[in-house]
Order: sequence, then structure tokens, then C-alpha cells
Amino acid sequence: VTGVQTCALPIFPSEIKTGEKRVAMSPANVQSLTDKSVKVLVQKNAGSAAGYPDAEYNAAGATTIADRAEIFATADIILQVQSFGSNTENSDSDLALLRSGQLVIGMMDPLASPQAAKEVAATGASAIALELVPRISRAQSMDVLSSMATLAGYKSVLIGASASPRIFPMLMTAAGTLQPARVLIMGVGVAGLQACATAKRLGAVVEAYDVRPAAREQIISVGAKPVELDLDTGETEGAGGYAKEQGEDFLRRQRELMTEVVAQQDIIITTAAIPGAKSPILVTEEMVIAMKPGAVIVDLAAERGGNCDLTEQGKTIVAHDVIIVGPENVPSDLAYHASQMYGKNMQTLLELILDEDGSLNLDLNDEIVAGTLVAHDGDVPHAHMRKLLGLTEIKVPTESEQQPTTPADEKQEK
Ligand code: NAI
Repeated sequence: VTGVQTCALPIFPSEIKTGEKRVAMSPANVQSLTDKSVKVLVQKNAGSAAGYPDAEYNAAGATTIADRAEIFATADIILQVQSFGSNTENSDSDLALLRSGQLVIGMMDPLASPQAAKEVAATGASAIALELVPRISRAQSMDVLSSMATLAGYKSVLIGASASPRIFPMLMTAAGTLQPARVLIMGVGVAGLQACATAKRLGAVVEAYDVRPAAREQIISVGAKPVELDLDTGETEGAGGYAKEQGEDFLRRQRELMTEVVAQQDIIITTAAIPGAKSPILVTEEMVIAMKPGAVIVDLAAERGGNCDLTEQGKTIVAHDVIIVGPENVPSDLAYHASQMYGKNMQTLLELILDEDGSLNLDLNDEIVAGTLVAHDGDVPHAHMRKLLGLTEIKVPTESEQQPTTPADEKQEK
């Protein structure tokens, strides 16, 4: 170890957004850093709400300190769950504490709040937005969207089960036979697939639907039945496996065909999201009217406008005798495991950007670094973020500008 000055000093302050119970790293993740002689500071009680007391961080070699301003003044790297842009509620006070040369890593909701990258850049600090981790196999262990979606999908089924006046499994008892609940999952990405598996384990009859034809096999693999609609789904998958935004004609036809399927369900879980865009409406008010009394909709897309017309973000409402739940920040309710997974994603990313001796080494040519770095050297280096912000494209020097091409040029250079 070459000394603390050259070592990165990852610190995580407590999360300040209302209701956020997760913490950026578990004590086990911290241990992996302190094992390499990296010094880690943790704000006092940062992990308490997630079930990780200060004593466990201390046992893992971290120092706990109370003062947030001291944390920002000392840190080389600041690790957060909801960082600038993701926490639009009260992160301004942290922005004022940022220093030039510091690196912030966390979720920044970059496609919806690109402005945050610009604000961080203006302080001279750098920022890595974890939502932008590219979907390549080397980066799978850093993919926070996948790890948080897994938990949200699991929990959505429990939310639906609690809100429903029915039980999930078929039950033959002396008091008669109960039919199993019928569950429909709409949008079968990471969250939806986990919801299928969880509902299946609870004994429900599970059907699932996604626009991406590739989802069919995955639905079957967890024991659910794919809903087949007569739609042209040729162009539904975009780069990185994400769904593409569909035209209004496609969505209208989809809704017509889906109405009958929806009417038969006891619980519907919707997870359909388009990165950076408003969620598509999959369940209209007409469909809700056609549903059984006491049926439940859990809308995991509530924070992005919702997949159901009637969803109210952060609320449970009853409309046309149907219970519609619009939960917010579902992974935070599973804060212990969410922090463990998030922390592991963070740990793997740090392994990429920290040298063996713990010093920070941002390789701007690395696909993962380049793909996630949204603020650096006082600017926003990320091409897509620049586009969203209406900034001019960064001019990449052409070969002729970079190096002399003719012997005459070479002479002139000399
Ligand atoms: P997401 O959270 O962006 O969206 C959820 C699901 O909703 C997607 O499956 C999407 O196709 C679907 N959807 C969108 N519009 C819809 C509509 N109008 N009707 C019905 N469904 C609609 O999705 P997520 O979880 O990010 O996963 C997308 C894909 O990416 C999956 O195939 C997943 O396996 C893949 N993936 C690949 C990774 C990797 O290669 N490293 C990592 C994580 C996911």
C-alpha cells in the first residue's frame, strides 16, 4: 500500500431520500475492500435501516463517522444508492459539498434526470451512473437494474397476495375445495420473470405476456404459460435486450386482444418499462371495469407513470371494485438483501476501477467505464447524455489531427 493519499477512500453517507432504507454496501462488501487495505468510512447508522449495525461495519474494518460534511470533505469516492438525479428530493445539500476530483457512484436515473450529470460536472467531481452499466456478460455482476428488479418482482407477488381476498394455491379441505388464484404477469423482463416464478411457487396458475418474442421461452422455463396475441412483434426488441417504444396502433391492438385475458385474472402484475420513457398503458379503465370484483393489480411501473390508466403512484386505490396498488421504491422494502446485492454490484465495479494498491484508475477506454461515466473533468463525456442535454457532440480528433501523416508534416512538427 502506498499510503492513504494515493488510496481511494470509498465512503458511504446515509441515504437521505425519504423512505430509502438501502445502504450502498453491506459489511461483507466492505470487508472485501479493507482486505486490500483500502480505507473505508461509513456514516454512522448508514446501514441501520437495512439491518446492518455500525458494529458490523467496524468489525469489517470500516470507520464510522457522524458528520456528513466531514464525509464529503474526506472522501475520494462516494458510494450511494440514490445519488444525484435519482434523489430529486433533497440531494442539493450534498451537491454543495462535492469537491473537484471526487468520484460519486450511485443510481442517478440518468435518462430521466440528465441535468444531474451536468450539475455534478460543474463542481469538478466525476460521476458514475450505475443504471448505464452496459448489458454485456462482463458487466452482469455490476448490473443494479437487474438485481433490484429481481427483488421488486418477488415482492410484487407478495404485495398482490396480501391485497387479494383469495389464497394462491388450490386447497382441498374438509371445508371444501378452493380454486387456485389466476395470476397474469405483464412485461417479463427480470422483474416479471421473478414474479412468475414466485407466483408459481405460491401455487397460483400463472400466465405471462411480453412484447419481446424471446420472453416466451423464459416464461415457460419458470413454469408459467405464455399469453399469445396475434400481433406483429418483429421489431419489439432494441439494443441491449431492452424493449423498444411501440407505436399507438400496436398498443391499441394489444389492448383489444388483452381485454379478455385480463378479465379472467385474480391478480395482475405489470412491470413493462421503456428506459427513459413513460411506461406504456397495458391496462385501460375499460379492462379494469371488465375485471372480477376483488381482483388486484400491482403496478411496478407506478413510478414511471404506470402500466394501468388508473394507477396512483404511492397509493392503493379501489376502482370499479378492483384493488390497484402503485408501489414506490419496492427494493427498499427488502433493504437487507437489496443492499447485499447492490453492494456486490458496487464491489465488482470498484474492482474494475481500483488498482491492486487501492488507487483509483479510471480507464476511459474501458466499455463499462465509458458507458457509465456521466461527469468528468468538469464536463459530461457521455455521448447519449450530451444528446439528452442538448450539448454539442464531443469532437473526437481525426487521425490527421492526431498525428502527422506525411514526412513533410513530421518535419514541420519538429
Ligand atoms: P425492463 O425493466 O426494461 O422492462 C420490463 C419488460 O417489459 C421487458 O421484458 C419489456 O420487453 C416489457 N415490455 C415493454 N413494453 C411492453 C408492452 N407494451 N407490452 C408488454 N411488455 C412490454 O426489462 P429488463 O428487466 O431490463 O429486461 C429486458 C431484457 O434484458 C430481458 O430479456 C433480460 O433478460 C435482458 N437482460 C440482459 C442482461 C445482460 O445481458 N447482461 C441483464 C439484464 C437483463
